[in-house]
Amino acid sequence: MNERKTFVEVVKNRKSIRKYKDENIDIEKIKEIISLSSNAPSGGNFQNWHCIIIRNKTVIEKMRESVEAIYKKIIGNAAPSYYTFFTEAPVVLAVIEKPYYSSMDEILEKTDKERNYIRKFIVNPGLQGVSSFITHILLAVENEGLGACWMTGPLIAKEEIEAMLGVRKPDNLVALIPVGHKIERKSKSGRKEISEIITIID
Ligand SMILES: Cc1cc2nc3c(=O)[nH]c(=O)nc-3n(C[C@H](O)[C@H](O)[C@H](O)COP(=O)(O)O)c2cc1C
Repeated sequence: MNERKTFVEVVKNRKSIRKYKDENIDIEKIKEIISLSSNAPSGGNFQNWHCIIIRNKTVIEKMRESVEAIYKKIIGNAAPSYYTFFTEAPVVLAVIEKPYYSSMDEILEKTDKERNYIRKFIVNPGLQGVSSFITHILLAVENEGLGACWMTGPLIAKEEIEAMLGVRKPDNLVALIPVGHKIERKSKSGRKEISEIITIID
């Protein structure tokens, strides 16, 4: 029987999972997770995200090969597992950021290029929306008792992986998320004290 977890349990128990059982996940379960995660907020409710669900082992292996090749070119030796362990998962999600345009960007583009640049590329509301979607995916995965990890390391081979997956500009591959039946981690990564991460203005 699947016991219902509280929100606090889901948030506290979620960890990056990098080891998975050799067991498939039903595509309907993955669709449910993505559908639930599409409740995430986004600038102007643009929902400027798209998810490529990769289940083909040959494609996943080719992705690993390009990460290895680029890593070797840059560093000179084999890539550490935190760049390549996504090959262990039965499903890899490739999260795509779609373009986000706001009417304010249009106005600022004409009236104040500097302010437009800062808001569009430094504040980057488009990427913030996608990040929120990814966070929802990780929590939805945990809620299903499955495991996942947000990965940007493999995107040293971003161009090569985009070409493989047919992602073309202006679409932008921003993360990979391997999802699988988790081999549970015992330890949880430490967290900063609340006093270190807040400032109160009374
Ligand atoms: C933007 C981003 C990129 C990440 N990229 C990787 C990665 O490439 N490989 C990896 O093993 N973990 C990656 N992680 C996972 C972090 O290492 C992990 O979230 C952090 O150490 C805290 O651990 P926890 O998720 O278990 O709480 C990434 C996390 C974020 C948010």
